[in-house]
Order: sequence, then C-alpha cells, then structure tokens
Amino acid sequence: MTQAEATERAGGAGPREFSEAAKRRIEWLYSRYPVREAALLPVLRLAEEEFGAIDGPAIECVAREMGISPGHVYGVFTFYTHYRREGDGKYVLQVCSTLPCALRGCRDVVHHLEERLGIGPGETTPDGRFTLKKVECLGSCDTAPVVQVNEDYHENLTLEKLDAILDALP
Ligand code: FES
Repeated sequence: MTQAEATERAGGAGPREFSEAAKRRIEWLYSRYPVREAALLPVLRLAEEEFGAIDGPAIECVAREMGISPGHVYGVFTFYTHYRREGDGKYVLQVCSTLPCALRGCRDVVHHLEERLGIGPGETTPDGRFTLKKVECLGSCDTAPVVQVNEDYHENLTLEKLDAILDALP
C-alpha cells in the first residue's frame, strides 16, 4: 500500500510530526526491543496519545519515524481494536464478546447499551460522546462480563453497574 492509500483508507487530515519528547520516548522504546520494528505497538500507542487518535497521517508519521512501510503499520493497526480511531467518541465502550463473556451475559450488555445509546456496535452517538465496540477477549475472562471504557476495565458487570458507570462519566 502506498502512503496515499494508507491516508485515504484511514481517512486522515494533515501531516503529523511527533513532538521532541515523543521522539525521545521512541528512542527509549527502541532500546527495549531487539529490533526497532518490534516497538510498533507502543509507538502506535504513543501516536494515539500525541494525536488523539490514529488516522492516515498518524500512520504515515509512525511509518516515517520507524522506517517501515505505511501499509505494514496500517495492517498492524487494523488487527488491534484497542487503538482510538478517528471519529471515535469521547468514551469508547469495548464490550468483550468472546465465549467466557458470552456465557456470562455480554449479549445483554450489548443490547442494553444499544437501547440506552441508540447505536449499534461500530457506531458513535450523534453527540460524539459514546462509541460502542464489540471486541475479542480483553484478558479478564475470570471476571466476565467485562467492558472497557477508554482505559478503564469494569468487571463482573451487571446492567445496574453499567448504568451507574455511564451515569458517573463527566
Ligand atoms: S472472554 Fe471476555 S475478557 Fe476474556
């Protein structure tokens, strides 16, 4: 994939540049891995922090910085659900839908969120406040069902707990 294709597919705006502080952090990350390319996931996380979300220009920026192709960065980025996408709402609700959570009622959780928010999985509320995502295992199967709200895990979820969590968000 060319850089232009990566930009178009990820739907980005203008060019991006890492701050000097981020570049120093990236150099530190490189020192933690046997090869530079292995630092791609944390560099993408850093890009998310720097730019607010991963879009086409952010992918190009990461690719430039790491000396790898935008297509490769795009491929890795799209494999994972936990990076913030352009257009995601203020709060991204990731509902685990893998078997242990399915057995413990994640379908009810998704259904409840669909009704409460008026959106389906993969959609964002018109006011830009919430994005709902169904995702694979969040690694907390013993406390299923689990919802991740931005960076925070909420485990052993009930619909009452879920409502309280959403009601408490600023
Ligand atoms: S199956 Fe839901 S956290 Fe693992």
